[in-house]
Amino acid sequence: MAGGQILAGFLAPHPPHLVYAENPEANEPRSKGGWEQLRWAYERARRSLEELRPDVLLVHSPHWITQQGHHFLGVKHLSGRSVDPIFPNLFRYSFDLGVDVELAEACCEEAAELGLTTKMMRNPNFRVDYGTITTLHMMRPQWDIPVVGLSANNSPYYLTTEEGLEEMDTLGKATARAIERTGRRAVLLASNTLCHYHFSEEPDPPEDMSREHPQSYAGYLWDMRIIDLLRQGQTTQVFEILPQFIEEAFAEVKSGAFTWMFAAMGYPELPGELHGYGTVIGTGNAVMEWNLVKAGLAEAA
Ligand SMILES: [Fe+2]
Repeated sequence: MAGGQILAGFLAPHPPHLVYAENPEANEPRSKGGWEQLRWAYERARRSLEELRPDVLLVHSPHWITQQGHHFLGVKHLSGRSVDPIFPNLFRYSFDLGVDVELAEACCEEAAELGLTTKMMRNPNFRVDYGTITTLHMMRPQWDIPVVGLSANNSPYYLTTEEGLEEMDTLGKATARAIERTGRRAVLLASNTLCHYHFSEEPDPPEDMSREHPQSYAGYLWDMRIIDLLRQGQTTQVFEILPQFIEEAFAEVKSGAFTWMFAAMGYPELPGELHGYGTVIGTGNAVMEWNLVKAGLAEAA
């Protein structure tokens, strides 16, 4: 088997409001829409993904929290109902997904080899978290591409931010080695919001967009600074200021998916394509793409 490669990485945040607003059959609550700019951003990302034709989607979610070590979905077929514990009124989603267990096991082995604590998740009745489900639904609602799900060990919350993100860097490198070794054509999804300051009251109805705007002006300015650097391909500079961004904007990238994805791709100094930005309950969300095929860093199908 030829060596595998990473085709692209997407910043693909997971506010369940986006699924709610789209009214897919799989989600029980009904809405009158809302958050269109972000949902249309995801429509553009979906078209890119369609063209890439990957074998597998890998997603790291901050809401599958594992206290000890980095865990990987390790059951070939998972189905059930995923409910957001904060917004059960918006997200009660019936999921049915296929897992690329061979690649997950390779990721688990490579990460262990690089010194991380790892474990395969083998519970056949496991309820997949809403972060993983929302990101996957927004990127590929057909659910016809196998996935690898990675948990958030949340080491950045127990250790210093820098030490925790160093672990995520290692996890990214291990992921790249596993993809290479198994010959997969892979797309990485970093399920992270940027500025995470949010409102504490929900409008009635929740999709009342006259109430939606950035919760924090300082946080908004931070988001624009980071996005602008990413659009210019100033990756090194972004990672230099990432701890300060996390601290001052309470950014969800602290949980590590963003670092994991960039480490796996080798931190390319490549302009990211912004598909769209919008707030959800005041938090800042960007859908962005780093297409390594278009950049000549990976081969087209
Ligand atoms: Fe989140």
